[in-house]
Amino acid sequence: MEKELIELSHISKSFDGELILDDLNLTIHENEFVTLLGPSGCGKTTTLRLIGGFETPDTGRIIFDGTDITALAPNERKLNTVFQKYALFSHMSIAENIAFGLKISKKSKEYIHDKIKYALKLVNLDGFEKRSVDSLSGGQQQRIAIARAIVNEPKVLLLDEPLGALDLKMRQDMQYELIRLKNELGITFIYVTHDQEEALTMSDTIVVMNQGYVQQIGTPEDIYNEPVNAFVADFIGESNIIDGIMVRDKLVRVLNTDLECVDTGFGSNRPVDVVIRPEDLIITDPDDGFYRGIITSVIFKGVHYEIEVEANGYEWLIHTTEYHEQGKPVGLRVIPFNIQIMNKPESSDEKVVETDA
Ligand SMILES: Nc1ncnc2c1ncn2[C@@H]1O[C@H](COP(=O)(O)OP(=O)(O)OP(=O)(O)O)[C@@H](O)[C@H]1O
Ligand SMILES: [Mg+2]
Repeated sequence: MEKELIELSHISKSFDGELILDDLNLTIHENEFVTLLGPSGCGKTTTLRLIGGFETPDTGRIIFDGTDITALAPNERKLNTVFQKYALFSHMSIAENIAFGLKISKKSKEYIHDKIKYALKLVNLDGFEKRSVDSLSGGQQQRIAIARAIVNEPKVLLLDEPLGALDLKMRQDMQYELIRLKNELGITFIYVTHDQEEALTMSDTIVVMNQGYVQQIGTPEDIYNEPVNAFVADFIGESNIIDGIMVRDKLVRVLNTDLECVDTGFGSNRPVDVVIRPEDLIITDPDDGFYRGIITSVIFKGVHYEIEVEANGYEWLIHTTEYHEQGKPVGLRVIPFNIQIMNKPESSDEKVVETDA
């Protein structure tokens, strides 16, 4: 891991008496692509605005490169922000838009000219200097917004759902563009999205948030394969999340059936959440499964079939590349390693886990 660059330490923030962020702690490293991921209203934009200096925390400190910047104005921080609703100036040309910040900081004409050329090249829009903002597609406008941020040579780029307005294909293209940009520029990206697939594709580190609390911090692989609780599991990809009873170590009862698992340390006869990913369920002959059921729906998704099986009073979701016919009686199996056991949160908005990042 590279050097620590930004540290949020015990940050709390309320609006109108309502607690929005509660004791947020987060360390961000140089050259890291960090994504804040979570449902609408969980405090992602607020966190980004605090880092950018557009809001002041009620408690806690923000350290940047060893210096306390909690009280610094946005323009005194070595950060640049591309907001959720990016605003280009429609009465200005593309070149004027990109040059805006540089002119304010009184750079020479030559410097500005070179910078514009360089930034347009980086976002794959060579030669667009004289075009008007209105003549560009949504994706092109988005890239100009990013070019405008890049020319100021920030150490950190803050991006708040920058691809939110784009269609799926263009989003995917832009995701690769952003990863390339990050690698070429060697700067830190703090990226906000509520799209889990986008987060998994782009990030070095994902911070999963819910209701102002950090639920889990980890690599995309960690978060996907080892979610710490049912919220994270549910938010990152679809899952079968079922009430279970941990009978004893390595044995869990799910829908009246005892299943071998690999987890230990949950106690005896304790209620737990049991998570099984759709791709980990195996469809067998009816007599060979742990559960016996009927296929109620089959949808072709391109790479796999999404199949629903009604068994033991539960609607199981299965992803498989093999075709099965609707109405067919089947069995369901899962290997012990693919059964994940999680403690139940004590209340729905409780701080469920300690993070170790
Ligand atoms: N300036 C403000 N005044 C009052 N309430 C605010 C303000 N800014 C944010 N909030 C509230 O704080 C909560 C978190 O807002 P925030 O914008 O950080 O969410 P978000 O995670 O970015 O959501 P989204 O995905 O919808 O953009 C919301 O309930 C919002 O209404
Ligand atoms: Mg937001």
